[in-house]
Amino acid sequence: MNATSIASHSLDPATLLSVDNLKVQFGVPRGGFPWSGKATLRAVDGVSFSVRRGETVGLVGESGCGKSTLARAIIGLAPVASGSVRWLDKETVLTGAQRDTSRLRRDVQMIFQDPLASLDPRMTIEQIVSEPLRTHGQDIARADVQRRVLTMLERVGLNAQHLRRYPHEFSGGQCQRVGIARALIGEPQLVICDEPVSALDVSIQAQIVNLLRDLQRELSLSLLFVAHDLAVVKAISHRVLVMYLGRVMEFGDKRDVYGTPRHPYTRALLSAVPVPDPVVERARRHLLLRGEIASPLSPPSGCAFRTRCPDAIEACANEIPQAVTHGASATRVACIRVGDAA
Ligand SMILES: Nc1ncnc2c1ncn2[C@@H]1O[C@H](COP(=O)(O)OP(=O)(O)O)[C@@H](O)[C@H]1O
Ligand SMILES: [Mg+2]
Repeated sequence: MNATSIASHSLDPATLLSVDNLKVQFGVPRGGFPWSGKATLRAVDGVSFSVRRGETVGLVGESGCGKSTLARAIIGLAPVASGSVRWLDKETVLTGAQRDTSRLRRDVQMIFQDPLASLDPRMTIEQIVSEPLRTHGQDIARADVQRRVLTMLERVGLNAQHLRRYPHEFSGGQCQRVGIARALIGEPQLVICDEPVSALDVSIQAQIVNLLRDLQRELSLSLLFVAHDLAVVKAISHRVLVMYLGRVMEFGDKRDVYGTPRHPYTRALLSAVPVPDPVVERARRHLLLRGEIASPLSPPSGCAFRTRCPDAIEACANEIPQAVTHGASATRVACIRVGDAA
């Protein structure tokens, strides 16, 4: 059992993105009146993790735990209060005025939850997919742009007949394919997928997850894959980050997190996922989470999860637990009750 230094994972030469102790806070009205003042909502509260070249990191946690805010903060779209985001060893999102997101804007792309809403309804598929090539000021000949758009469309399972159509003519799954083509056309290194299949029919979800997984392998892409569905995250991720109330509870190799979940929150999340075999399913013990996720306006003292944790003791209220590494693959777990299980 070793206490991890916050920067230790960023020394790995394969690291593309490194997030250290990142905090994002929103000022929200305290009461119904303007004179009631503002309260601080801690949407992301000291998150550290990294993404390596060519790997998929799955980000899970209940709705409202700060997944989208973390994703947005990485590309400079959320108010960072403190901490750092490094891209290829260059600080990109800093507190205050000195931010440099130019490199990040080209290297990192996003795919959103609602495919139709994220595509401009007045543009054709060709215009939508080619837009990143034009806005990055790259001097690419028209014929080249067309060729690249068509190659990309074919890669995501669409074809030349779709070029002149508009988003409303497509199904949700097809729109998401267009969104993926648009994100990939500029050859980014990291794609942040914020719940990319949550709004799709279950039958379509697997197709899109498989497409993303194939593209990740073919293009050696890195993905940060946000979802609240643990089965979806298991299918696509190499490493998994479990968040609760703006903090990291557990971060490690997928096989480790799913096979030997250590944090009580990870265990509770996993035990809520039904097993397809009814006999096995009936024999399982479900760890039910008590109560509701606490408010990020007034998180519990110490461990944020302690108010719902079956293993909580008095000491859990004293301090925010440090991430400690466990096991052969060095899974980081923020819980004082987890002993050395290596
Ligand atoms: N622009 C904003 N202003 C105020 N609060 C926000 C804003 N964006 C998100 N939040 C709050 O931050 C918390 C985390 O939200 P979010 O990142 O969307 O969670 P998730 O994506 O995990 O569902 C929530 O409590 C949400 O209400
Ligand atoms: Mg979200």
